[in-house]
Amino acid sequence: MTDPYDRPQPVLRTTTDRGEPLTLRLPDAGDAPGILAACTDPETLRWTTVPLDYDHERALGFIDEYAPGWWQRRQGAAFVLADGDGGYVGQIDLRVGGDPEVADVGFLTAPHARGHGYMSAALRAVTEWGIRELGLSRVEWKAHVGNEGSRRVAEKAGFTYEGVLRNGCAHRGERRDAWIASFVREDLS
Ligand SMILES: CC(C)(COP(=O)(O)OP(=O)(O)OC[C@H]1O[C@@H](n2cnc3c(N)ncnc32)[C@H](O)[C@@H]1OP(=O)(O)O)[C@@H](O)C(=O)NCCC(=O)NCCS
Repeated sequence: MTDPYDRPQPVLRTTTDRGEPLTLRLPDAGDAPGILAACTDPETLRWTTVPLDYDHERALGFIDEYAPGWWQRRQGAAFVLADGDGGYVGQIDLRVGGDPEVADVGFLTAPHARGHGYMSAALRAVTEWGIRELGLSRVEWKAHVGNEGSRRVAEKAGFTYEGVLRNGCAHRGERRDAWIASFVREDLS
């Protein structure tokens, strides 16, 4: 069997529940302004571990190093979401940890693009791809307790809620309780 990591990171294509096309691809230099706007948004900073001092240099580091690094290390993949015009509307990481059959996800939608169904479609596409092409058995979603938008995205993507992980997330020097949900191989129909 060929190893998927021996090939370039693929481009994934899907469609939102409103019929809008969505492309998941590696970021390029043209995405930098969108990444910067998304990563300095107050809701992003509230619910994710994006650095508080995010700036243009960090956006370039994301494009040149962080995003391609997951695939280069054979530990999953980071994608940006592009709408039908090719514009940046968000980003999603699928990260494989110590167990090669288990990955977790991290995501954010650009503030101007929220509520269009982009992330629920992207999460489903990345999850199915990870199971079918990377051989994953389980994809985990975690969010701080109270992140209702993220939880709804996971539910819409077909994830099953499993409970609360007490002190389950590190957040800017503190521990936070986390919701956890999963999508497993057997959920593919
Ligand atoms: C959470 C987030 C990713 C949602 O992205 P999105 O692209 O707007 O999500 P979708 O458009 O696919 O919405 C999916 C569902 O969630 C619902 N939803 C989205 N944001 C919501 C919110 N803040 N509260 C309640 N429901 C919300 C939508 O209404 C939709 O449900 P519906 O189809 O039944 O109406 C986005 O708000 C975001 O980036 N937040 C800041 C970063 C973050 O929290 N990341 C996740 C960390 S775990």
